[in-house]
Amino acid sequence: MILVTGGAGFIGANFILDWLRLNDEPVINLDKLTYAGNLNTLKELESDTRHIFIKGDIGDSQLVENILDKYKPRAVINFAAESHVDRSILEPHAFLQTNVIGTFNLLESVKKYWTNLPNSNEFRFLHVSTDEVYGSLERTEPAFTEGHKYEPNSPYSASKAASDHFVRAYHHTYGLPVLTTNCSNNYGPFHFPEKLIPLMIINALSGKGLPVYGDGQQIRDWLYVKDHCAAIRCVLAGGKVGETYNIGGWNEKPNIEIVNTICELLDELRPRADGKPYAKQIQYVADRPGHDRRYAVDANKIECQLDWRPAETFETGIRKTVQWYLDNQVWVENVQSGAYRTWISKNYAER
Ligand code: NAD
Ligand code: TYD
Repeated sequence: MILVTGGAGFIGANFILDWLRLNDEPVINLDKLTYAGNLNTLKELESDTRHIFIKGDIGDSQLVENILDKYKPRAVINFAAESHVDRSILEPHAFLQTNVIGTFNLLESVKKYWTNLPNSNEFRFLHVSTDEVYGSLERTEPAFTEGHKYEPNSPYSASKAASDHFVRAYHHTYGLPVLTTNCSNNYGPFHFPEKLIPLMIINALSGKGLPVYGDGQQIRDWLYVKDHCAAIRCVLAGGKVGETYNIGGWNEKPNIEIVNTICELLDELRPRADGKPYAKQIQYVADRPGHDRRYAVDANKIECQLDWRPAETFETGIRKTVQWYLDNQVWVENVQSGAYRTWISKNYAER
């Protein structure tokens, strides 16, 4: 039995779906179901007794302690977070609440549980984090290694950096057997359509503008979500306690190139009714405040020590992703309704 937090979100849900396709070890899924958490994503597990869903907050110590005592998981994998940089700029408080205080409360609950475990050496707390904690790179600088200094620039990355530090401290101070992963930008099925790739696909199909921030030359390092999930399984199985592992697919691309690739794929797979290219919908808009220029991950450590390699290239992964959104418009409509729609119309008149 493992406990996954944030398992109704993009990466957590992909992780659970893959985990249960690959083995029968049950998963408890603790998720608060914020705007980003959607049980529609886990529809195929509706009557699967290996998936135990519990709606709740990682910061609710009483609830988490009850779950740990009842189910006695051998590992906790912490995906739960507020995850969108733009939201963290507009409303940073929730990021502090969940990413910092929530993770801290979770660590406290887990420490209590772990202390009384008979086989406490075998337990693992795996904290899922981001490359954004390292800050921004100049074009010529080498990619982030695990030893790169932490220089978070957005409220999101600052909150993730704080949580990483608490995880580290719980190992050094109390001996909690932790592992931390710092992954680059993910993309793939079930990605919430406020992030670059799904937003561009959805906006293109509905004839809206494709808002590219600033000059569109910011670089992100993209990894297909299923490759991230495989890397997490690898770190859980073989990672050295107390260590951190960078995860990335050596796929640095400027944003404008990503947007053009999506437009070209849509031109091929779902041409516009008027026969014009989707790229006509691209609109350069005001830049994000404090926008990090470049992220790039050096994935040598996980490749050499744990023998992990991504299965998808960017070309295969992005084609699958565009096709997935074409095939799953109902999922998109479902997650876009309600609270998300209200928030978007309040904050982004043009979307
Ligand atoms: P997401 O926003 O899609 O999902 C987050 C999930 O956490 C949602 O289901 C939400 O309901 C849940 N949640 C939020 N607050 C909670 C709380 N207090 N208690 C319990 N559940 C809560 O995020 P994602 O993209 O799936 O990211 C998952 C993790 O991976 C995050 O920790 C993120 O920082 C990290 N990460 C993401 C990326 C990326 O590209 N998306 C890259 C590297 C690391
Ligand atoms: P995003 O998907 O929000 O991820 P992150 O900020 O965590 O990297 O954004 C990816 C890149 O795309 C980032 O440089 C900001 C840019 N971007 C746009 O140009 N337009 C958009 O509408 C969005 C959402 C992002």
